[in-house]
Amino acid sequence: MHHLLLLLALLGLGVAAQQSPFDVVSSGSQRYVVAHFMVGNTYPYTTSDWAQDISLASSKGIDAFALNVGRDPWQPDRIKDAYETARQLGTNFQLFISLDMTSIPCATRDHAEQLRYYFEPYRNHPNQFKYNGLPFLSTFAGEGCSFGTGSYKDGWSLAIKDGRPPVYFVPSFFLDPGTIGSLNFVDGTFHWNGAWPMKNTNVSWVSDNEYISQLGGKRMYMAGVSPWFFTHYGPDTWNKNWIYRCDDWHFVQRWELVVNHRNVTQIAQLITWNDYGESHYVGPIHGAQPNSQSWVDGFDHQGWLDLSAYYAAAFKTGYYPLIRRDRIFLWGRLYPAAAGSPDRVPRPANWEWTQDVLWGAMLLTDDAQLKISCGASKLTATYPAGLSKFQLPLVDACSVSASLVRNNQVVLNFSPQGFSFSTRPPMYNFNSFVAASP
Ligand SMILES: *[C@@H]1O[C@H](CO)[C@@H](O)[C@H](O)[C@H]1NC(C)=O
Ligand SMILES: *[C@@H]1O[C@H](CO)[C@@H](O)[C@H](O)[C@H]1NC(C)=O
Repeated sequence: MHHLLLLLALLGLGVAAQQSPFDVVSSGSQRYVVAHFMVGNTYPYTTSDWAQDISLASSKGIDAFALNVGRDPWQPDRIKDAYETARQLGTNFQLFISLDMTSIPCATRDHAEQLRYYFEPYRNHPNQFKYNGLPFLSTFAGEGCSFGTGSYKDGWSLAIKDGRPPVYFVPSFFLDPGTIGSLNFVDGTFHWNGAWPMKNTNVSWVSDNEYISQLGGKRMYMAGVSPWFFTHYGPDTWNKNWIYRCDDWHFVQRWELVVNHRNVTQIAQLITWNDYGESHYVGPIHGAQPNSQSWVDGFDHQGWLDLSAYYAAAFKTGYYPLIRRDRIFLWGRLYPAAAGSPDRVPRPANWEWTQDVLWGAMLLTDDAQLKISCGASKLTATYPAGLSKFQLPLVDACSVSASLVRNNQVVLNFSPQGFSFSTRPPMYNFNSFVAASP
């Protein structure tokens, strides 16, 4: 709680509660916000890099990193540094392992033994994230892992449960939700793809509910929350080149769904802290990029981290915090989705699902008039105290500029540097430019 108060003070948010739109007392158990962290992007990290990330995440309402570990032999050394740094900081920020089963081998019984090497060393570490008193363990995928037993059910029972020291196991298997209920070796489920709409629609709670209804109210649910998705690797590299639809203030919509379903959600997992390759990072651009520089450099996303903190507080306490400072958050693509480009990697799949629009959200201490423009595209409107959303079509080359007027006085002027829309994309860059007023 102490950390939450500090966080709110730093963000200019107060603890006096505004009217809460949801039921606060429906469940007594504590809620956590964690962030998926790609250890694979930390090759050059020193302990001071870890210290920066831990302090920053902690100041934005994040309780723990889910350390996504893959097969590179150097990754366990970085994990060791992360735990050691957290200990030395004397923070109650926590860490847990998320086994990336698209990378770690899982075909033999030996692999089941080797798997334990990733998480057993931290069982009793003071910064190990625990749930119900047990060390928490998660995965990315793993539904294809048999560990030499012939089935993934027997395989995971062998690797995680049968006679092993206990862990609280919450994998993100990409399985039909109807099978989740029968997995007696899991203590909960993490529905990774719930974080975005999988089609040309807004995000919804429908698929979350399919998973939750299989858990019988006894096992816990971890929901995914993500601001964006764009990846652009050609056939000569990872051959991953698509977007998910993140229009209509997707990040805000998803957080609202998770907050409104906190009665059935124990953990919200931000996807991600630093996955640059898929453009859904909310932390600083830092470490080693997976050859994503061409769509990531210059696209800092930390404005989303601040917006996320507002929802993290609501998710954890049951109340949206009182807003003590006006803030404007703006994001969107810098190029028309349909514009041609000399890029050697083609336009990403699903590109026709997105519109050329600037998405905005605002935290207002009191009623105010917003004026926002980009070239000939202009909006002037009055909004009430609290969080409001607005949008502005982007058509011709332009630069974004916004101001807030209250009692005939300009109280905020915001012309974010670099937020310029251009009709001539140098490449098919569908990453989001993100800007937040101070
Ligand atoms: C998404 O939600 C917004 C309102 O938040 C609505 O205006 C829009 O029509 C929806 N779009 C789709 C594709 O459902
Ligand atoms: C949780 O809250 C949602 C949204 O308010 C409601 O529809 C649902 O019935 C609640 N579920 C439980 C188990 O309380």
